[in-house]
Amino acid sequence: MSVLVTGGAGYIGSHTCVELLEAGYDIIVIDHFQQSNIQSLNHVKQLTNKEFKIYHIDLINKDHLETVFLENSIDAVIHFASLKSVGESVHFPLKYYQNNIVGTLNLIALMQQYHVKKLVFSSSATVYGNTQEVPIKENAVLQTINPYGRTKLIIEEMLRDIYTSDNSWSITILRYFNPIGAHESGLIGEHTDGIPNNLMPYITQVAIGKRKELRIFGSDYPTKDGTGIRDYLHVMDLANGHVKSLNKMKDSKGLFTYNLGTGKGYSVLEIIQVFEKATGVNIPYRIVERRHGDSAVCYADPSKALKDLEWAAKRDIFDMCVDAWRWEKNLNASKV
Ligand code: WQD
Repeated sequence: MSVLVTGGAGYIGSHTCVELLEAGYDIIVIDHFQQSNIQSLNHVKQLTNKEFKIYHIDLINKDHLETVFLENSIDAVIHFASLKSVGESVHFPLKYYQNNIVGTLNLIALMQQYHVKKLVFSSSATVYGNTQEVPIKENAVLQTINPYGRTKLIIEEMLRDIYTSDNSWSITILRYFNPIGAHESGLIGEHTDGIPNNLMPYITQVAIGKRKELRIFGSDYPTKDGTGIRDYLHVMDLANGHVKSLNKMKDSKGLFTYNLGTGKGYSVLEIIQVFEKATGVNIPYRIVERRHGDSAVCYADPSKALKDLEWAAKRDIFDMCVDAWRWEKNLNASKV
């Protein structure tokens, strides 16, 4: 089975490419390399000892994208390509709607034209907004609070409409909680340009000495220690969720939505404690005011993915910290 992976050079995309190749799938990767680099894909080839085609394409350019469909026999698509910074989306909403929505429209139109009707879509728990319904089930109220989240929800709605109009499609929508960590080799991981928005890359940059201290955004939330609680998920477990989704699509049609999380919530202070224990590195921090748009508690009920996909997270928070730290050290060693 030949799978087109859009955004395959990215953090989750590159880890999923490793899992796909190791599961025996053939892949074709497209990426515009604006927030990733080709080195990730070279390392995917090195890790799996497999070859695959790479196209340097922006989904906005439909003619360029069509060449991929003309030159390859594609059975399914995993669609990762997306701008993904919540903060940036607030300041540049048009850039996010253009890139995320128009890019997806081009992709889906060409899939329809070339009769490629198996799609796994990379969505996000951000579509639940600041829900109070925890653990979060797939039928929780959808309420986005930023342009990035709105692009994800709009694409989900587009996919639901497409399936309603033509139920020969097989569509799986995966809502990620908080992916962290890296492949155990330390060869691939999350690249963050500039100041990291997310917790774990910020922690590892403090640990490596690149940042002075971690700012904890608020300690007055209604949680066990006042800091925000999230469902952190190892990126390799997340990658495996995509393989399990494709496996299910081989003999079933339909539109299915799954929360991919561990079902466990950890606070910011707990993450710091686990990270220090896992790595032996002290993480200095300072409590500051809350970050706008943050919710107090967000973690998944992953039971539907377990039942339908036979998927569950295997790696624990200690593994996630160890693997994230190894990646940060390798990333810096390669820059020396
Ligand atoms: C986690 C916790 C912060 C940084 C975001 C996106 C979401 C998804 C995953 C794409 C929160 C706290 C963080 C820091 C801190 N991305 N924190 N200091 O906000 O849950 O989700 O990434 O789909 O769309 O919104 O993740 O890692 O930014 O924050 O105290 O320097 O860590 O307040 O409680 P978040 P995060």
